[in-house]
Amino acid sequence: MELILQMKKKKLLIATGGGDCPGLNAVIRGICKRAKKSKEWEVYGSKEAFNGVWSEPPYIIPLTPKRTAGIHVKGGTILKTTNKSDPLHFPVKDEFGNIKFVDKTKDLAAKIQELGFDAVINIGGDGSQRISKALFDHGLPVVGVPKTIDNDLAGTDMTFGFQTAVQIATDSFDKLVTTAESHHRVMIMEVMGRDAGWIALHTAIAGGAEICLIPEIPYDIEKLVKRIESRYEKGRGFVNIVIAEGAKPKDGTVVSREGEVGSKHVKLGGVAFELSNQLKEAGVRAEIRETVLGHVQRGGTPSAFDRVLASAFGVKAFEMVMDGAFGKMVAFVNNDFVEVPLEAATKENKVVNPDGFLVKAAKGLGISFGI
Ligand code: F6P
Repeated sequence: MELILQMKKKKLLIATGGGDCPGLNAVIRGICKRAKKSKEWEVYGSKEAFNGVWSEPPYIIPLTPKRTAGIHVKGGTILKTTNKSDPLHFPVKDEFGNIKFVDKTKDLAAKIQELGFDAVINIGGDGSQRISKALFDHGLPVVGVPKTIDNDLAGTDMTFGFQTAVQIATDSFDKLVTTAESHHRVMIMEVMGRDAGWIALHTAIAGGAEICLIPEIPYDIEKLVKRIESRYEKGRGFVNIVIAEGAKPKDGTVVSREGEVGSKHVKLGGVAFELSNQLKEAGVRAEIRETVLGHVQRGGTPSAFDRVLASAFGVKAFEMVMDGAFGKMVAFVNNDFVEVPLEAATKENKVVNPDGFLVKAAKGLGISFGI
């Protein structure tokens, strides 16, 4: 009689953390499809980043082919996400009811192993990859996948979600151009990006903005007034401005609001209105209108490019698990899919180089940075 030995499958846990982003589901599907082919792994997903691991009983679901079929075209994340339970700065209440932050990564690594997982793929931005690094340092086999619309993660030329956000911002910008022209107005469009001006810079070039303001190049309000006036010199002109949420004037500060309870991040947003007031105070006579694009940039279906990038990241991340390439992040470098140490990805954020060619190209196209 032939003896059929059923090999016990290894268990892989996936988590999506931080803000959501178009392409998360495509990564999940890529991992699951490649894992199915391997026949050696079962894939599970932790709900709301690692909250699913802490839950009693754990809120962890099997990622079956039925659950992941066709999800690559869907925005958001089927696993849900949160940016309020960072295990490196986990919010707990002290004896007086005040919130303090503690490092729970050691406990988290132990809990994941207790639950029988052999490896983890953590999909997220800079904050999530710092968590990946800490979990790896505590002995957990982790692979990272770079996500963020901000494109500010080091170690990779591009993160998935960025191209979709730029497309959404550009489509919106195009709409603002026609109304600015009709009313001879100054239109200010604020985009996301935190401390990096990638979305703003790409949108300004794609849309043909007159002015682009980014955190990496603090602006001089007088220079902006001159540029605006030059557009109205020969009669009734119009001006379209793209401003990144983290942009600030020379000697000025970033416009922020208080963060939410449980989050260590300050909330950015509202700089479009600040700039509008600054321009009025500096003597701009033309009518000014402000648009804050906000979370529209993160919603909806991923672009074709992001589906490709995210799907390939998923496949590559799973292959890294099979190869035991832990403590690393999959990255897109020089048009290739490579592995980079989590350390390189998390040391510092990747911001726009004010002396780099893209800024030079924008200047060559007549875009002012207010300097
Ligand atoms: O990091 C992505 C991002 O969309 C930033 O561009 C933005 O500042 C932030 O998240 C908004 O976070 P939240 O969804 O918590 O408001």
